Amino acid sequence: MQLGFFTRRFVTNQIKRMSKSTDSTKDKLIFAPNRYQYSKSSLHKEELEGKDPLLVFNDWFHEATEDPAIQSPESSTLSSARLPSGRVSSRLVLLKELDRRGFIIFTNLGTSKKAEDWKTNPYASLSFWWESLQRQVRVEGMIERLSREETEEYFQTRPRLSRIGAWASPQSTVIQNRKELEERVQSYKEKFGEDEPGFIPAPEFWGGIRIVPLEIEFWQGGQYRLHDRFSFRRDDLESNYQLVRLAP
Ligand SMILES: Cc1cc2nc3c(=O)[nH]c(=O)nc-3n(C[C@H](O)[C@H](O)[C@H](O)COP(=O)(O)O)c2cc1C
Repeated sequence: MQLGFFTRRFVTNQIKRMSKSTDSTKDKLIFAPNRYQYSKSSLHKEELEGKDPLLVFNDWFHEATEDPAIQSPESSTLSSARLPSGRVSSRLVLLKELDRRGFIIFTNLGTSKKAEDWKTNPYASLSFWWESLQRQVRVEGMIERLSREETEEYFQTRPRLSRIGAWASPQSTVIQNRKELEERVQSYKEKFGEDEPGFIPAPEFWGGIRIVPLEIEFWQGGQYRLHDRFSFRRDDLESNYQLVRLAP
């Protein structure tokens, strides 16, 4: 088969590009790091059946809290995605509350990437990893913004300088240098006073969101990667959960 000039040039360029990427993948910076066996314990369906998954999470969270090897059981990876591109973004956040509806975190709702994502997509996921217990919990759900009163109730538990920090940081916007941030902090210290007492309200652009689950998966590491995975799932927020076992 005879290829035209332009087709030949296109194919040659494609091959060049592919061989270039093959070259760079030879330089593996990390390759198959040391692995360890998961063997801690096993999870059985009977332990979960008929239970409220939020209460199961609560039990697991308290076990993680009591484990001295786990410094920050409330750390969780929060993912969001922007539409229409579908571009996904993940970051660590701290779980601050769990109630009978869902998982609550606090953040900048004005300028952060997550806030921007939620304008086009009300779904989010959280993923917890408690290494010494060999447990993962994944949550997928829909976002609800907390009321001003609920946000304020939590905001007032934060140390004074953290409250000032929330005012001073236009989270995830580009700043020129550290000095710019420090000047912003200084101006809010002057506005509110650096020392207690003196009320500092939560900024309007800052607040809590609740992730109300559509799905919660409990993952317990098992030998030879044959982990136990159980998922509580429902189609919408009003339905009851179905419990299913998932292949590892
Ligand atoms: C352990 C840990 C906990 C964090 N907790 C929070 C949090 O609770 N809320 C928050 O807004 N950012 C928290 N951050 C910072 C976020 O990871 C992130 O940098 C910030 O929220 C901006 O994200 P975004 O612009 O992608 O939304 C935490 C970072 C770490 C490492």
